Formats: sequence, structure tokens, C-alpha cells
Amino acid sequence: MGYNPFLLFSFLAVISHINFTKATLSVQTVSEVHKISVPAPRNLPSDAWRPTILTSCPALFYNESAPCRINTNIVYAEELIYPDFRIRLPGVVSEEQRQMYLLFLHEYRNDWKRGRAIDGYGYFLNQRGQNLVYANVSYAGRPYPGRWAEDACMSGRAGSHANSFPPWDGNAEAPAAVFIASPDHTYFQHFLDRVAMMLAQTRHLGRPEDFKYISLPIPLRSPVQELWTMMVPGWTPETLLRANTPNLRTRLLVYPCQSPLIHPYTQQLATEILLMSAGVDPNSIPPARDRPVVLFMTRQGSRRWHNEDECRQAVEGLLQTRGRGEQLMAFRATDYPSLRAVANASTRVKLVMGAHGGALNNIALMSPGTGVLEICPVSGDYRKSRCGAMFWETASVRNMPYWVVLANNTNAQWEILSLDCRMVVAAVRDALEGIDAGMPSPLERFYQGNAFRRTS
Ligand SMILES: *[C@@H]1O[C@H](CO)[C@@H](O)[C@H](O)[C@H]1NC(C)=O
Ligand SMILES: *[C@@H]1O[C@H](CO)[C@@H](O)[C@H](O)[C@H]1NC(C)=O
Ligand SMILES: *[C@@H]1O[C@H](CO)[C@@H](O)[C@H](O)[C@H]1NC(C)=O
Ligand SMILES: *[C@@H]1O[C@H](CO)[C@@H](O)[C@H](O)[C@H]1NC(C)=O
Repeated sequence: MGYNPFLLFSFLAVISHINFTKATLSVQTVSEVHKISVPAPRNLPSDAWRPTILTSCPALFYNESAPCRINTNIVYAEELIYPDFRIRLPGVVSEEQRQMYLLFLHEYRNDWKRGRAIDGYGYFLNQRGQNLVYANVSYAGRPYPGRWAEDACMSGRAGSHANSFPPWDGNAEAPAAVFIASPDHTYFQHFLDRVAMMLAQTRHLGRPEDFKYISLPIPLRSPVQELWTMMVPGWTPETLLRANTPNLRTRLLVYPCQSPLIHPYTQQLATEILLMSAGVDPNSIPPARDRPVVLFMTRQGSRRWHNEDECRQAVEGLLQTRGRGEQLMAFRATDYPSLRAVANASTRVKLVMGAHGGALNNIALMSPGTGVLEICPVSGDYRKSRCGAMFWETASVRNMPYWVVLANNTNAQWEILSLDCRMVVAAVRDALEGIDAGMPSPLERFYQGNAFRRTS
């Protein structure tokens, strides 16, 4: 995305210049002129991370910034300027493990590009989003729905489709729709890491129940149907418009496909919406140190962890020794009648742990403050790993402290053949003691300033 910090800088300099030289011109009138705002507060913790919104095009601004786009059907366009932040690197049990983690982080998918790891933190800078709103256009198959590609919705070149929506005459009966058909969006994991982010980024544009959503059909009995009902009141399968219909005509089309993958605003807001739909008030969740449950996500199906039982018993032993009434509970999604029940139960969870796998996506339904411990299978050469950075990132931006234990005794199927359970116990002890002591959140605001001036 084309972010030129110098242009923004000179633009801000103009504002302060005006303020200094003309005492009668207030910040308010200047922000009127340039249409700078923030989404209205919701009295939720995510308020602290709201983006700054620009809805008119300042002179010299980049031509593909949302309000600078030239398209007669665009009736409203927001450039969302997300605040910078940093997250602590994972908690580890040894220096050797820390070095291993950094090695594989830098090599992740050949190159971890979303952030940069320096000293004890991962930095996420200069993130932008766009909400483009069109009148009287149709969706004619671009971006291609549901498929992984560089120009897919939520991928790097989603902006190249800003002019892909053919105009038509329009009428009042046509729907107002949001395009959300990002890669694999009908799957639990990718609903949570992409669709939920776009639903959060567009939440201030109108009531979610007043829109239809352009999507591929969601299979019956998929948990994604419940996620939809949790995020959009009154949702029914008819709330979705089929993305594979040729020429889907809309009265209003919202195109939010440029949304950050990892930002505390959208990640926290999505979780707050999910928790509220489960009867949990995000403002009155008990602090993690007062919660009694360690939730152990057992591996099912592929990528077995061969001595998982042994390590689970060792953790149980630790909880008994600690004598604080904590209890270890095995987590299987099938034990819960609904995702709402999982979210509701999360207010009692102090730590979730388990080998890397789909079950860890449930951290999107967990209460802030909950610790996360991921057991990551890595291969002998350390640079290869089954784990990505995603659970570290998504936990940390939700104020959930994160620990990792890397397991290097693996086979080609990423099964963990054995792991020294003393490392697992050490990580759980460190996590529980840190949470008991009220350790600070792994997420911090960060102001870039001159911090990254050095080129060495
Ligand atoms: C924006 O400007 C660049 C060159 O500065 C040009 O290549 C690009 O096509 C322009 N984009 C649009 C949407 O006009
Ligand atoms: C969209 O179409 C409706 C109905 O034809 C029309 O009243 C309206 O002015 C159009 N809006 C734009 C921005 O083209
Ligand atoms: C969630 O918890 C609240 C309060 O603890 C309770 O009133 C509500 O019924 C629960 N909802 C579900 C779906 O379990
Ligand atoms: C795995 O890590 C341990 C230390 O944690 C090290 O001693 C051992 O050599 C490593 N094994 C492989 C195959 O790299």
C-alpha cells in the first residue's frame, strides 16, 4: 500500500502552521476542512485503538488513497490511518528457545513482512485501511471470490480492484452490500482472520443488519454460520448474496478489502462483538489472575503430539503443587454446544495451551488477559516450522500474553515425536506466575518518531 510518511508529515505541518498563524482558526474547523475524524466511541476497550479517518483528499496526497480515487460511482471513501503499536516477543523458557524462535520468525513464509522484530518487540507500523462506498454498481466476479491470490480481497493488491465494479442504472430495491469474499472465507480460521476484520473495519458505517454480504455459500452445520449470527444481528442465510451469481447488482456497495490483518482495533472489536453476543460484558470480565481454568487444547486428527498425555499430567502436577485451586480442563470443541458457550466460558480461563492447530483459533473467542501457550513443531534445521507468527500476533493484540515452546523432535508430517515435558511445565509456571503478578499487557502504543532512523 502506498504510504508516504513525508506527504502525511507535510500535510500535518500545514495544519499546525494554520493554527499558529491564525488564532481564530480552531483545530475543529481545520478538521472540518480536511474531514478528519475517528469512529464514535462504543465504550469498549477497542476504542483506544480507533483509526484516524480521512474522507477528503488533501492536495498532493497519493492518488490511490481512498478519498483521492477518481470514480464517479464512489460516493464516500475513507482512508483509515491505524495507530502504530508494538507487541512483546513471545515468552520462552531458555535463551536457546528464543534464538530458535527468532530464526524461524525471520524465515516465516521466506520472510516475515507484516512487522519487524527488534530487541524484545515486534513492531507494526504505518498500517492503512480503505472503506470505499459505491452507488449503483454491480459485482462482476472481481476480485475472484474465496481464492488465494495476490489481488484477492485482504491480500496485498486488493486495491487494484477499486475500479472493477461496473456501473448500472440503479434502483431503490437493489441491496446495500458489503464485499467480504476473501480467501477461504467460508472456513472458521479465515472467517476469523479476514471477514471478522472487515466487519470490524466497517462497523461504524451503519447497522450491520442493514447490509447484505457478498460471500460464497456457507456449508450447513459449519460453525461459520454461528459466527455470522454472532457478528450480524438477525443473520439468516439470505443475508448473504452469492458471490458466484453473474453480475450482482447493488444500490450501495462497500469494498473494505484493504483492512490490516493484524491490528488491535479490528482484532479487539471483533472479539468484543463475539463476547457480547455470548452474554459477556467486555467491561466487566474478571482479571485473569482470578480465573481458575487452564484450558488444554488436545490435538485431534493430524499432527499428533505423541507424549501429549505425559506433558498434560505434568502440568496437572504443577497446578496441584501451586495449591491455588486451579484446574486443568481438556478442550474439545465438540464438548461445547455452541461457540457462544465457548466465549461465555472464557471468562473463567486463565491460560489456554496446546500444540499448534486449528483449535487455537478459538483465542478469538477468549477474554482479554488470558495467557496463551503454543507448542510449535519445528524441523531439525530450525528455520522451518509448522507454526507461523499468527497466534503470537492475534493473542498479543488482544492483550493476551503469549508463550511458545518449540518442539524440534518432529517428523515430516509435523508430528511431535517427543517433547521434554519439563520445558512445558516451566512455560506454564512462568505464565501463571506472570499473570498472578499482574504482568503488563504485551501490547503497547508506539510512536515512531526518529526511532528507526539508523540504517545499520
Ligand atoms: C496513481 O499514480 C501512479 C503514478 O504516480 C500511476 O501509475 C497510477 O496509475 C495512478 N493510479 C490511479 C488510480 O490513477
Ligand atoms: C443511483 O441510482 C438511483 C436510481 O436510479 C438514482 O436515484 C441515484 O441518483 C443514483 N446515484 C448515483 C450516485 O449514481
Ligand atoms: C453467558 O453468561 C451470562 C452471565 O454469566 C449468562 O447470563 C448467560 O446466560 C450466558 N450465555 C450463554 C449463551 O451461555
Ligand atoms: C533440539 O533441541 C535441543 C535443545 O532444546 C538440542 O539439544 C537438539 O540438538 C535439537 N535437535 C535437533 C534435531 O536439532
